[in-house]
Amino acid sequence: MSEEKIIRMDMGKNTEHEHIGNEKTVLCLGIESSCDETSAAIVDSDRNILAHIIYSQIPEHQKYGGVVPELAARAHILAVDEVIRLTLERAGKSIDDIDVIAATAGPGLIGGVLIGWMSATGIANAKNKPLVAVNHLEGHALVPRLCAASASDSATNINVEFPYLLMLASGGHCQILLVHNVGKYELIGQTLDDSAGEAFDKVAKMLGLGYPGGPIVDKRAQLGNVKRFHFPRPLCDKPGCDFSFSGIKTAARMLLDKTPQTDINEEFINDFCASFQQSVVDCITNRLTNALKDVRVRKAAPKTMVVAGGVAKNSAIRSAMEELAKQSNMLFAAPPMNLCTDNGAMIAWAGIENYRVGNIVHEPVAPRPRWPLTEL
Ligand code: KG4
Ligand code: ZN
Repeated sequence: MSEEKIIRMDMGKNTEHEHIGNEKTVLCLGIESSCDETSAAIVDSDRNILAHIIYSQIPEHQKYGGVVPELAARAHILAVDEVIRLTLERAGKSIDDIDVIAATAGPGLIGGVLIGWMSATGIANAKNKPLVAVNHLEGHALVPRLCAASASDSATNINVEFPYLLMLASGGHCQILLVHNVGKYELIGQTLDDSAGEAFDKVAKMLGLGYPGGPIVDKRAQLGNVKRFHFPRPLCDKPGCDFSFSGIKTAARMLLDKTPQTDINEEFINDFCASFQQSVVDCITNRLTNALKDVRVRKAAPKTMVVAGGVAKNSAIRSAMEELAKQSNMLFAAPPMNLCTDNGAMIAWAGIENYRVGNIVHEPVAPRPRWPLTEL
């Protein structure tokens, strides 16, 4: 893998934070490889991102309409060494300067997870450094504590404190969690079938819009009429905080099948995307409203509502959640766009948070394709 190819994905630095207190600043190298991004970052315990490289494999998978696990694993092997080398170079650090090594150890596509995890294990063993096995979902869940803003003011960095109510929506997961602390997650609700990201990707595929579908549907929805088509809001007339998206997907398929090909023009696609997206937004706010009723009566009630995961990039979801938080007298926080989808900085930050509480690896760890946050 050439440096030139990888350099295009350099995410730059964020070095605004000053060191506070007497504690020694910890420097962590984080590696992410659980899906279709090979990424590494160097983050410090004062919340600075010293360097961040994301090598996205999207072009490699695009022609198949989704991630092909075997191709992803091969691409990770080719990219991982160069991504790590470049990250160190960009930060102006050598591996000896790094205090902690962290990598995703699951959940995810096992071929990719193995490559990042074994690279991290090799470096940590060779250099005698502490190693953290990061749960990928915990990376998404904790990254708002590294860097977060509100939906309407991306310039102000919000300090997200425990406990917080988290909407975690990615390609593989859709959960509402109460985040009590590092390693302490209470599941409030989850999807019974597809994830939110999967629903976006499948609807985009039906419309022939390409992969990944979320960002394209989001863009088209901004040009469309949310009221033109009616999609169901599954479970929204029921109590509880669980989700179901497969009915929306089936309704989308049926609507497309009954529409004459000649009527499927740009305006139709924009309105379709807007109406579909609105049904997802309504499901999320409905389920979060129920979750709030549950968590606000707790002794330690959360003060902040947070969205994370790739779907957190969605503009309509961000603003609907910000509005709900406002109505509920809560703060709202979301990671900046480049820290929503998979990235090495969230793994490095989760590495730092786990290292601070002494959660490092003492024995060989086998990567896990499935690893719920409630099993940390
Ligand atoms: O967190 P992530 O990078 O990977 C997983 O851990 O799964 O999330 C990827 C998902 C994909 O399904 C993608 O379509 C979705 O996030 N996504 C979006 C947007 N940007 C990415 N979904 C809705 N709107 C977006 N703007
Ligand atoms: Zn992810």
